[in-house]
Amino acid sequence: MELLSVHEASVRLSAQTGAQLALNKVSLRIAAGERIALVGSNGSGKSTLLRLINGLLLPVQGHVHAPNGLSQAMLFQRPHMLRLSVLRHVALGLWLRGASWSAALVRALDALQRAGLAQLAGQAARTLSVGQQQRVAMAQALALQPALLLLDEPTASLDPHAKREVEALMEDFARSHPQAAMVFASHNLGQVKRLAQRVVYLEGGRVLADLPVADFFDPAVLQSRSASAHFFTQGELA
Ligand SMILES: Nc1ncnc2c1ncn2[C@@H]1O[C@H](COP(=O)(O)OP(=O)(O)OP(=O)(O)O)[C@@H](O)[C@H]1O
Ligand SMILES: [Mg+2]
Repeated sequence: MELLSVHEASVRLSAQTGAQLALNKVSLRIAAGERIALVGSNGSGKSTLLRLINGLLLPVQGHVHAPNGLSQAMLFQRPHMLRLSVLRHVALGLWLRGASWSAALVRALDALQRAGLAQLAGQAARTLSVGQQQRVAMAQALALQPALLLLDEPTASLDPHAKREVEALMEDFARSHPQAAMVFASHNLGQVKRLAQRVVYLEGGRVLADLPVADFFDPAVLQSRSASAHFFTQGELA
């Protein structure tokens, strides 16, 4: 079952002039249950594509098709914390989606416990380290139980221990929500292998490859695709 599709969409960001595009005729279909990794070098358009999917950007050409009421949650590359305690910060996200405040607090605490962050519940969200903020943002996104979970470099600023924990949260989500889809941007090829079924490779705002993960990492397929071969040599294998 298709959850969302992008058709020949081009995006020009406000500061971009002339012919320069952040995304250039990108097409993508996302089906229920899929786990898709977006890979490509800095500036290739991963974050822009996630924002387009999430409805935060409009294409100058092409379109995004999503059913009314598709619930999405997005974890941004740079977490943004409100001037609230961690617990209230997470609860606010739930309240904004219609939960009563008391139910939101209960679910927020539960989400923090699952993410191993209960001890931070009373702390001011803005005083957390970037890695802690990232994990709180992850807990908040998971608490929404979205049908489509979008994650922009969810482990980029995490230490190895926290990285494993966040990957475990991603796996838990995929396992416990088999009908939900997860799209994540990553520079970490090990993570892509561990978590993705399908890899979308971007370069200069274009999709140059959209392959099952096994094919993307298959040397025989790689040889016939200079794009992914190039990425392979640049990529981080941790
Ligand atoms: N606010 C902005 N205004 C103008 N151009 C932007 C803006 N944000 C990003 N861009 C440009 O859009 C293109 C795509 O950027 P994007 O952030 O989507 O790349 P990315 O693949 O997420 O990179 P990274 O790996 O560094 O996160 C780049 O050329 C970038 O310079
Ligand atoms: Mg990015």
